[in-house]
Amino acid sequence: MKPEKSRPLHLRPKRTAHALLRLVQVTDCHLYANPGRCLAGLNTLDTFDAILDLVKTEFGSSDIILATGDLVHDASPLGYTRMRSRFEKLNLPVRCLPGNHDVPEVMSQYLNQGKVRTLEAVQLHNWVIIMLDSTVPGREGGHLNSRQLEILEQNLAQNPDCHALICLHHHPLPIGSAWMDRMALDNPVSFFQIIDRFPQVRAILCGHIHQEYEDMRHQVRILGAPSTCIQFTPLFEQFNLDRLPPGLRWLELEQDGTISTGIKRLSAMPTKLDISVAGY
Ligand SMILES: [Fe+2]
Repeated sequence: MKPEKSRPLHLRPKRTAHALLRLVQVTDCHLYANPGRCLAGLNTLDTFDAILDLVKTEFGSSDIILATGDLVHDASPLGYTRMRSRFEKLNLPVRCLPGNHDVPEVMSQYLNQGKVRTLEAVQLHNWVIIMLDSTVPGREGGHLNSRQLEILEQNLAQNPDCHALICLHHHPLPIGSAWMDRMALDNPVSFFQIIDRFPQVRAILCGHIHQEYEDMRHQVRILGAPSTCIQFTPLFEQFNLDRLPPGLRWLELEQDGTISTGIKRLSAMPTKLDISVAGY
């Protein structure tokens, strides 16, 4: 890929009184080719649909949707095609990046169409949103290769007057769950060395951890979100399913760089969750 490819696409945000940007993060949807398939007893297509209904009813005026990986559990063309058709019905711009269960090439072939784009930076008002691929073929853990680090650096260098939100699948710092931290980003030093040179970075948004999470490193917020299907119990040494309902993260980005954010979940836990499963 040529360096110019990493330039952010300019989108015209909806008119708001003071240039507030509204974003929704949906993550770890784990769809399958077979729409009847379940993960730990939950039909992941049903819970994804329920979350998209929540987006429509409560966040329909959002400027963009961010989908931060593990979008299709079996990386099937059918799973990505089904996801794209659902996203298209929202009629909102969507930016997607891959997780360890995705195959980036298949994902971009079947998701990348119309308002749904994969791994494309975007500029909205005075914010730039940078989408990175932290996946490594055949591995659950994450790594940002030299090309991804270059994309990060270029987008920050080219947009010195924009606040920056950086999105990737894998969490860049430990979250206090040993099993999950074994599959975190494995080169956070290289990642943060770049970030530390650009004071306009406001937040890092990740998927992967299937739980609400917030941390702070220097002046940069690190945010994680619930999955649209199964949830992992925070601070557990081993895999453990939480009984919280599926959810999403909403964000409001102000012109001065301030971020308001929170979690919204389905009002009730879908029935049939099998809490006894030992992994996913
Ligand atoms: Fe996941």
